[in-house]
Amino acid sequence: MTARSIDGKAIAAKVRADVAQAVAALPSKPALAVVLVGDDPASQVYVTSKGKATVEAGMRSVEIRLPAETSQADLVARVDALSRDPEIDGILVQLPLPKHIEEAAVLAAIDPLKDVDGLTEASAGKLVLGKPGLRPCTPTGCVILARTERPDLTGANVVVIGRSILVGKPAALLFLEQNCTVTLAHSKTRDLRMVCRGADILVAAVGRPEMVKGDWIRPGAIVIDVGTNRVPAPEKGDGKTKLVGDVHFAEAIEVAAAVSPSPGGVGPMTIACLLRNTVLAACARRGWSVPDMLRLG
Ligand code: GUN
Repeated sequence: MTARSIDGKAIAAKVRADVAQAVAALPSKPALAVVLVGDDPASQVYVTSKGKATVEAGMRSVEIRLPAETSQADLVARVDALSRDPEIDGILVQLPLPKHIEEAAVLAAIDPLKDVDGLTEASAGKLVLGKPGLRPCTPTGCVILARTERPDLTGANVVVIGRSILVGKPAALLFLEQNCTVTLAHSKTRDLRMVCRGADILVAAVGRPEMVKGDWIRPGAIVIDVGTNRVPAPEKGDGKTKLVGDVHFAEAIEVAAAVSPSPGGVGPMTIACLLRNTVLAACARRGWSVPDMLRLG
């Protein structure tokens, strides 16, 4: 059997269209501020596409680009000013930050009501406690992708590989919120292959190129690949590289029911969920009711 390839681009386009429709019906335009420190080329590309997507969804984009030598105190002051600015609904500080800046100190300056990345201690605490709040974007994207294959996830056995703050830990909690039975596996997990074979839904977020092979996957499972790894691609020519996920796609597609490819699966969902979070933040701050099409259920 050949599995379905989960079309993250198309699903993200639908979320973005829902966001645009929701924004058009709001009393005013939500505003998202994105802060970039330094000139890391990948981060520059991400920040530009976040700004473009924000405007395409009908919202206001505020981009703050600061030099790499910006001091921690200056950056904290900028983020603090955005937290106090009543016209700003969402704040995202692009990571990683330059080495001389302590990430935690900067994240602590983000008003939790504007924390569209879901990375502050307050947002993480609300997620653990099951209280309403802004949820991290990439893990939310994983849940949305899984639900396109299986709309009611109740009772599903979910295995998440990788316990990072940005993806693995919050993904485990978000699937728990969907009434799944969750195993959070990691580099010290014994017999990882057998643990993965128990999964109805397998989420790979480890950053190891094509680590998850076909025989790690239960026949009929849903596989969500969060990894994006750059590897040599000698077949494309000397010194060329390509992106691959944490899952061996060609093997997985022969065993699973559905596999999200990487690139083209979870990646596009992250920006779509960021836009969705910006609208949710604006609604919560301004006392507007949440448009139906943005509810996860
Ligand atoms: N850098 C890479 N991914 C992310 C993300 O999801 N949020 C932020 N703020 N920075 C990132």
